[in-house]
Amino acid sequence: MTIIVTGGAGFIGSNFIFHMQKKYPDYRIICLDKLTYAGNLSTLKSVMDNTNFRFVKADICDIETVCRLFEEERPDIVVNFAAESHVDRSIKDPDVFLKTNIMGTASLMDACRKYGITRYHQVSTDEVYGDLPLDRPDLFFTEKTPIRTSSPYSASKASADLLVIAYNRTYGLPVTISRCSNNYGPYHFPEKLIPLMIANALNDKPLPVYGNGENIRDWLYVDDHCKAIDLIIHNGKVGEVYNIGGHNEMKNIDIVKLICKELNKPESLITYVADRKGHDMRYAIDPTKIHNELGWLPETKFSDGIKKTIKWYLENREWWEEIISGEYRNYYEKMYGAKV
Ligand code: NAD
Ligand code: TYD
Repeated sequence: MTIIVTGGAGFIGSNFIFHMQKKYPDYRIICLDKLTYAGNLSTLKSVMDNTNFRFVKADICDIETVCRLFEEERPDIVVNFAAESHVDRSIKDPDVFLKTNIMGTASLMDACRKYGITRYHQVSTDEVYGDLPLDRPDLFFTEKTPIRTSSPYSASKASADLLVIAYNRTYGLPVTISRCSNNYGPYHFPEKLIPLMIANALNDKPLPVYGNGENIRDWLYVDDHCKAIDLIIHNGKVGEVYNIGGHNEMKNIDIVKLICKELNKPESLITYVADRKGHDMRYAIDPTKIHNELGWLPETKFSDGIKKTIKWYLENREWWEEIISGEYRNYYEKMYGAKV
């Protein structure tokens, strides 16, 4: 079995590669990644020398290079994690989101059509469903919830999903799509809520909470997401969408307070800043379909997962310190400089 994993130098893709290499040591895994600001080759150093692993630095939009790789490797399965993934960046500059998330998905699927694969899996997001109101805790996203996007990021991911469904219907490409809630865990880029708050708290810097901090996200430990994708690519039904989430809703402010508590830092570091434009209020996944059809259930409780995650950031300071001392510092100044 040969699998191309795109975006495997990023947060979830790298965790997926670790999961797959451990569980299926005989599989050949090729990571195709452009190494944007979010991709980090050092993340993959533990698998780099494995004979069943190959890293290729390439852009998924570069159809010629992608086809050359397909010609050489003849993959059975392609799992597409490659994306621009940060909502705040998409608000500042949507352009690259449209290129990578939409055009990149199309070029990968064109290569799949040309060479033939047994499965193309699109890693999507619950953000394609828009948001839910805070006063209706009885509502959840199911696979039948209409697409209703809020940000350029979610609109680009939804556009990609529509293309994936179209390639299945029009060309018979054997596709699946998963739409997962917010992930957390090791190797999460420190521009996202949880790693940003951990890094800032450890450096005694202000903890910038958008708006009133009442927004709700449904958090899933990254390994549980990887296990769900593993099940879908092996046993999921072609043409189907699977929602992934663990019924673990938390208000942003409660997460930030919990991080302060775990790190023994004062809540006075919390600084309320201007709200994100178009800020989604609540995400909440109904995972009944993947549970009933594939037997998936989340294994890591949030109270354990957040402790493991904080421990990882404490033990791997060089990984994130290198990031926050480099090019990322300019981003931070631009986004938060005037706010905190
Ligand atoms: P990430 O930003 O950490 O990693 C993205 C990776 O894609 C990086 O390694 C980057 O170098 C690579 N990449 C970007 N543009 C590329 C291009 N044009 N060609 C090749 N590689 C490129 O993102 P993540 O958080 O790991 O998310 C992975 C996927 O999961 C994304 O598709 C995202 O939409 C989806 N998702 C993320 C979450 C979450 O909570 N992080 C939740 C649900 C779905
Ligand atoms: P984020 O990690 O960017 O994920 P997403 O927007 O895809 O859900 O943000 C999670 C929540 O945390 C979201 O409601 C925005 C909020 N947030 C802050 O309050 N402060 C921050 O500095 C960041 C990055 C996010």
